[in-house]
Amino acid sequence: MPVKLLFVGDIVGKPGREALSRELHRIVDRHMIDLVIANGENAAGGFGLTVETANELFKCGIHAITSGNHIWDKKDALDFIKREGRLVRPANYPEGTPGRGSTVVSTPGGTKVAVLNLEGRVFMNNLDCPFRTADREIAQLKTITPIIFVDFHAEATSEKASLGWYLDGRVSAVIGTHTHVQTADERILTGGTAYMTDVGMTGPFESVIGVRKEEAIEKFITQRPSKFEVAKKDIRINAVAIQIDEKTGLALGIERISVPC
Ligand code: FE2
Repeated sequence: MPVKLLFVGDIVGKPGREALSRELHRIVDRHMIDLVIANGENAAGGFGLTVETANELFKCGIHAITSGNHIWDKKDALDFIKREGRLVRPANYPEGTPGRGSTVVSTPGGTKVAVLNLEGRVFMNNLDCPFRTADREIAQLKTITPIIFVDFHAEATSEKASLGWYLDGRVSAVIGTHTHVQTADERILTGGTAYMTDVGMTGPFESVIGVRKEEAIEKFITQRPSKFEVAKKDIRINAVAIQIDEKTGLALGIERISVPC
């Protein structure tokens, strides 16, 4: 039996969380999803994640939460990331960083799915090499399950495409996050890995990548820091559904999803 994963794009603040609590079960039913993974690094007020917001996401049907550079924005994340096994941060942070870079969760039918989070280095933090970190993590995860999902939280399209090809045939999917703009390049690479440069955003689209457009424009014009607030209008859920062969761990199908709420 194939396994079907849903990966939900970066959840932005309360509008994103509320959209999921209303609509996620409908998407899960329509696409016959076995397991839901979501990027939650912007779920609390647009920056970071708190215990309450993480629990809200688990309650609405998300089985595992990935993150990225903003995971550290809310101070309580430093503590609960150590305890919460369903939450991952990029694996290529320096040794000693709280939390874990990968985890293994199970579908209701008992199939094990590994979730690996990595962060890019182009226009981002100076972290360890995501390619070499992926090699190490995958070698270990393969001993547990052939199904490996990778969230590559990165800015540059070229870095994302390169990691997709680098891991082609070795993981089930490499899906990009961080830019909040959904790309239309979903496909299965020649080795059998599902790939998409960026899954997009779950939140308000009358905005600049989720925040109120007025402050974003002001920041660009004045070149001074601006206090960003989560926007409120035109809420959409961006996601991707990936069908995976349970035995080989390779992808059988990939479908881009964008739902207005
Ligand atoms: Fe990010």
